[in-house]
Amino acid sequence: MLVLGIESSCDETGVALVQADGPGVPRLLAHALHSQIEMHQAYGGVVPELASRDHIRRVLPLAQEVLAQAQRGLPEVDVVAYTRGPGLAGALLVGAGVACALGAALGRPVLGVHHLEGHLLSPFLSADPPEFPFVALLVSGGHTQLMQVDGVGRYTMLGETIDDAAGEAFDKSAKLMGLGYPGGPALSRLAQQGDPAAFRLPRPLLHSGDLDFSFAGLKTAVLTQVRKLGDALEARKADLAASTEAAIVEVLVRKSLAALDRSGSQRIVVAGGVGANRRLREQLDAACARRGVRVHYPELALCTDNGAMIALAAAMRLQAGAQEATTSYAFDVKPRWPLQALVA
Ligand code: KG4
Ligand code: ZN
Repeated sequence: MLVLGIESSCDETGVALVQADGPGVPRLLAHALHSQIEMHQAYGGVVPELASRDHIRRVLPLAQEVLAQAQRGLPEVDVVAYTRGPGLAGALLVGAGVACALGAALGRPVLGVHHLEGHLLSPFLSADPPEFPFVALLVSGGHTQLMQVDGVGRYTMLGETIDDAAGEAFDKSAKLMGLGYPGGPALSRLAQQGDPAAFRLPRPLLHSGDLDFSFAGLKTAVLTQVRKLGDALEARKADLAASTEAAIVEVLVRKSLAALDRSGSQRIVVAGGVGANRRLREQLDAACARRGVRVHYPELALCTDNGAMIALAAAMRLQAGAQEATTSYAFDVKPRWPLQALVA
């Protein structure tokens, strides 16, 4: 089964081809990505209308690119998968519209995928794929969730953020420090030159006894420091970046360990854009090594949004019998769509 996957939920257009034969983990044949970061940079954040228009320009050339890379023809595609939500409505509609048009033209079924399920399953494409069951730490620009994952479509929420997501905390703090968009990678780079203990920043809900997160207060604390520093900010920026990163990472690591304790699992999967953060990887690896817990990440290139995870999630759902592809091409998108809604 050859699955073409299209991702267009936010500011990256991603297309990929995945081959799934038998019960094994599907194989990634090719993927291509166009990031809109440069285009949105001038505005300090994603402009939804510009995002939609750019997806329209990119998606078919990217599809041609992956087909050429994999040396496959469009008629060989068995299923066309697309991100149905959550995300920006207009951006999602581009991927859904193109996928359904391709499906209709080819006479092939289509399948709408949950973006977070894509992130969650993306480590299965790594050189060291996980096995079910596991705990998942999903940390992206819009979501911060800890989940118990017992199989494809078998997800139990253990905890989530009550306000900002971890990626949002990185991005908003970076913006306050004048680091531009997207702030996470920029803040993280600068943090490498700073002292993580230089500023005492809050670790929200660290001792709350549950597995929920809150990052809005941290952002306020960063704002207070920026104001206090005034002209001295420039000289202390790396220290403030390092201290902010340390606060976010400490909370993520401690709550992940608590989730492992609660579930009794010996395996954790980290997915979503913040999973690319070097300090998070180092600290989680060290803490898990002490406990004999296995940690799995997606390949670095597949941490942030991409088409491979969408093609993969579609293939795995089909393999597991969790969903059937449809030849009804009357698509809709779900800009707001809790992952728990997938659980049968
Ligand atoms: O998963 P993703 O690409 O998009 C969403 O589904 O939201 O995640 C994007 C988020 C952004 O907030 C970005 O700043 C953050 O991931 N991010 C990072 C790093 N790379 C990406 N945050 C911290 N350190 C990084 N190295
Ligand atoms: Zn994402």
